[in-house]
Amino acid sequence: MPYDLIAIGLNAVDVLVRLPESVKHDDKQFVEDLLIQGGAPVGSGCCGVARFGFRVGIVARLGNNTLSSISIEDFRSNGVDTGLVVHDEESRPAIALVEIDHLTAARTVFIQMDHYGYLKCADIPAAHIAQTKTLLVDSYDLDATEAALESAAGTPCRSILDFESGDTVRLRKLLGMGTDPILPLGAARNLTGQTDPGDVLRSLGDLCPGQVVVTDGIHGSWALDRNSGGILHQKAFVVQPVDTTGCGDAYHAGYIVGLLEGWPLEIRMEFGALLASHVAGRVGGRTALPWRKDASSMIRPDLSSTLAQKLSTLL
Ligand SMILES: Nc1ncnc2c1ncn2[C@@H]1O[C@H](COP(=O)(O)OP(=O)(O)OP(=O)(O)O)[C@@H](O)[C@H]1O
Ligand SMILES: [Mg+2]
Repeated sequence: MPYDLIAIGLNAVDVLVRLPESVKHDDKQFVEDLLIQGGAPVGSGCCGVARFGFRVGIVARLGNNTLSSISIEDFRSNGVDTGLVVHDEESRPAIALVEIDHLTAARTVFIQMDHYGYLKCADIPAAHIAQTKTLLVDSYDLDATEAALESAAGTPCRSILDFESGDTVRLRKLLGMGTDPILPLGAARNLTGQTDPGDVLRSLGDLCPGQVVVTDGIHGSWALDRNSGGILHQKAFVVQPVDTTGCGDAYHAGYIVGLLEGWPLEIRMEFGALLASHVAGRVGGRTALPWRKDASSMIRPDLSSTLAQKLSTLL
């Protein structure tokens, strides 16, 4: 059976701690929120889609070591198929230490990538990609991203690009190979040289023939409406943020769920923002990702009637 989504990109294990109001250095302290879970944009994004019951495959190079075991176990518990994972004894995921400020929810992240399992060309499952409905790629392993996008070329597959940083010339080229770039505004500004979200989107739209979207934290997200030439804005849903780790990843997941459900652009954006707001309320990028069975409980008074109706009938 073909996949609904294949995800190819950075894979990490996050160690997250919400710091107490006062940190006693050179001492021991008990804390309420300290946990280990899988992370990274593509890794968490694909978990959000799998939780809605879709067939999702992750491509990663992992071995026989503790971090790889945590990564695999977490993908499986989120419903992600690990059949496309390549076994390589020495490889492991990245590890990220995330410190979250108690009052502001601001994050400080330390990343270590020793023995990271960078994908090789032969690891890219071209035959599966040629049949999948959607593809999620990032900018951390550009050779893998390019090979995956080449495999999707000429097929109906929608390719969602989450580019946070990287070589500008190469990223601009890869934008032309994707269908649905959803970029943080800062990265999109670097790629286009524009500042205003509308100008950024119009410039991105010249680089990518598909549907371009940018996000900017609590300021929400914007998309270029290809039909009218106008700019759509989606607000961020107001929540008391505890930890914004994974908000962007959850937004991508909601957008992809919407694509797979056949929802229009505005509703895909609204659902992305709604999933992200859930994630902001708990520590960890995957902790508060909802499952399909929770869809109707996500309805809130400030949702559009269209999304509320769709969520009430998602079974
Ligand atoms: N504090 C917040 N409260 C509610 N919604 C939020 C918050 N932060 C982000 N979001 C939602 O998540 C979307 C994506 O967030 P953002 O633009 O920060 O992504 P990002 O930079 O890719 O983040 P990440 O570090 O998770 O990859 C926003 O457009 C917004 O809808
Ligand atoms: Mg992001």
